[in-house]
Amino acid sequence: KPPKIAVIGSSSMDLVVTADRRPGAGETILGEAFSTVPGGKGANQAVAAARLGADVHMIGRVGDDAYGQEIVANLKANGVITDYVEPVTDVSSGTAHIVLAEGDNSIIVVKGANDHVTPSYVKNALSLLRECDLIMIQQEVPEETVIETARLCTEIGVPLLLNPAPAREIPDTVIEQAAYLTPNEHEAGLLFPGVPLADVLIKYPNKLFITEGSAGVRYYDGAEEKLVSSFKVEAVDTTGAGDTFNAALGVAVAEGKPLEESLRFANRAASISVTGFGAQGGMPTREEVERGLAE
Ligand code: RIB
Ligand code: NA
Repeated sequence: KPPKIAVIGSSSMDLVVTADRRPGAGETILGEAFSTVPGGKGANQAVAAARLGADVHMIGRVGDDAYGQEIVANLKANGVITDYVEPVTDVSSGTAHIVLAEGDNSIIVVKGANDHVTPSYVKNALSLLRECDLIMIQQEVPEETVIETARLCTEIGVPLLLNPAPAREIPDTVIEQAAYLTPNEHEAGLLFPGVPLADVLIKYPNKLFITEGSAGVRYYDGAEEKLVSSFKVEAVDTTGAGDTFNAALGVAVAEGKPLEESLRFANRAASISVTGFGAQGGMPTREEVERGLAE
């Protein structure tokens, strides 16, 4: 039986411009191409988890606009259950304004309807949340929602995977209540200001996973610090690689796979995702990840 996962989070439309370089302040340059592709960290994680075979429920909000309809249709087309994705009246769907230049992305997120993923909206889904093997959340929804979700997960005894992206400070209670935390180095620096990351890792064995991009992911297994290396690939677009990593880690631990194996699975999935354009382009199926791991 596939694991049941609820993803609480953002769903957005990504407006992507590719260009040679980024313009400076006050400067206008000509770009190469423009595309509109579904994104948002929550929706990306939901789609990635569904492609990997989990039974995925999205808890999110869209605007009452054309993007909102496309976002919901895309989630459904990927097998994500959208019973808890309600449009907000008179509010725009979330958008992410992405520049792909010089081999990297820079992103401005306008939260729009994602700001309406409130604590009470999440509590509406309590009966669903109770039945889940894992709950996932990120930080493109209000901070109160992350705080309340962490509290609820402890109350109902369902593990929470918190992907603390984009970076912001988080109350200690949330760090304690989350079962899994997956910051990158920059986000980890904000979560644990002034403490060397090696010390922080030891404090949270088998719970804190610091992602280091193409190097891999670092954690402390209770006895020693480990680096699970990532797989080398030609990257087309790294947008959404973190989301794929989180979703795959979530699916693997929800299936009861051992941690180190789960991290390898997640690294493999993320490495495949960067070979396709767009956050969700390139996100692999279960078969593709297994084939990749067997190579
Ligand atoms: O993590 C990638 C996502 O972050 C993009 O899809 C974009 O929506 C941004 O919010
Ligand atoms: Na991609």
